[in-house]
Amino acid sequence: MEKIIIGKNLLEKLDQLIDIKMFSKVVILTDKNVAKHWLMIIKRSFNKAVVIIIKPGEKEKNIKTVENIWKEMFKNRMDRRSILINLGGGVVCDMGGFAASIFMRGIDFINIPTTLLSMVDASVGGKTGIDFGEMKNGIGVFKNPIKTIIDINTLKTLPKRELIAAFGEIIKHGIISGREFFDLVTSKKPEEFSQDELIEIIKRSIKVKLKITNKDPEENGLRKVLNLGHTIGHAVESLSWKTDKPLLHGEAVAVGIVAECKLASSNLRGCTAVLSENNFKSIEKSIINAGLPTKVKDIKSDDIIKMILSDKKNNRETINWSLPKKIGKVAFNIKESNNLVIKAIKYILI
Ligand SMILES: NC(=O)c1ccc[n+]([C@@H]2O[C@H](COP(=O)([O-])OP(=O)(O)OC[C@H]3O[C@@H](n4cnc5c(N)ncnc54)[C@H](O)[C@@H]3O)[C@@H](O)[C@H]2O)c1
Ligand SMILES: [Zn+2]
Repeated sequence: MEKIIIGKNLLEKLDQLIDIKMFSKVVILTDKNVAKHWLMIIKRSFNKAVVIIIKPGEKEKNIKTVENIWKEMFKNRMDRRSILINLGGGVVCDMGGFAASIFMRGIDFINIPTTLLSMVDASVGGKTGIDFGEMKNGIGVFKNPIKTIIDINTLKTLPKRELIAAFGEIIKHGIISGREFFDLVTSKKPEEFSQDELIEIIKRSIKVKLKITNKDPEENGLRKVLNLGHTIGHAVESLSWKTDKPLLHGEAVAVGIVAECKLASSNLRGCTAVLSENNFKSIEKSIINAGLPTKVKDIKSDDIIKMILSDKKNNRETINWSLPKKIGKVAFNIKESNNLVIKAIKYILI
């Protein structure tokens, strides 16, 4: 399984963390925003590395960009003993991991995540991939990086909105893990945590994720609990791109968590053997306190349903939900009536 190193000032000593002699060539994949702040420091360790800089943003996470990456890799004579270093957020890590995993039948790659979201989620767990048409992460493979290096300093240049968005996933990990971690991550506003506190949150968040993905790496069962908030979240994310308020992934997940917790809640269902009203309220409140959205505008419930049904996670007409029973217990493969689903979706629409 992958090796994860977390700390401060790690980019300055990458040559001590990566044994460059093991590889015939080093290629660094990054995006323009990240390159501006952090590429120079890395180049000090790997001055001969080939650098590929892509445009930033989810729109670039597609097969065309992967093709360009491969062209550059062939042009620079990379072979099966070369290594690709992904320096960036989830887009760079997902796409770079995918490009590496099938380049010449698969070469090693290292993730150096530079957004909080990619530190706690995208850069660990072995999912790589790209979007295809309207299908988010429609194409991809499971492949772990040989190393993940998390330098908390990189968050210094991350826009505040991106930092807050990551708490969509972190709160999700809190709901999966239990009261103690949930209370810790919701005890302050995201921007109020110190570097050391963030390191602790990242370590524990990764632990929550890896405990699950190590048991079920290819999502045959248990791993589905990590999809909490993502069934409605993915649909809302894609649909929001057509409005004048496009959501970040973590923001859409936050809205998705609210809708899916509503779907699980006793208040909606009129019975008690499900998520208690108290638990629902503390989850909703934690999302509001973090500065994340709980509702969306200009999106129709019918479009959300259509989008969910086209999601690769759902076999034809049945939607498989991952829903919490309480903070600390999420169940998966749950079927729900359309009637309840529509009510829950309406709750998040303005
Ligand atoms: N593989 C997985 O298990 C997994 C899990 C969660 C999310 N994801 C994927 O991750 C992606 C979202 O990742 P993200 O939120 O990191 O988005 P991102 O990679 O688009 O980065 C967000 C923005 O921040 C900029 N940026 C990155 N690091 C910076 C830094 N240190 N300083 C300044 N600017 C910086 C980027 O250029 C970009 O504009 C989505 O495509 C999602 O599907 C994958
Ligand atoms: Zn996610």
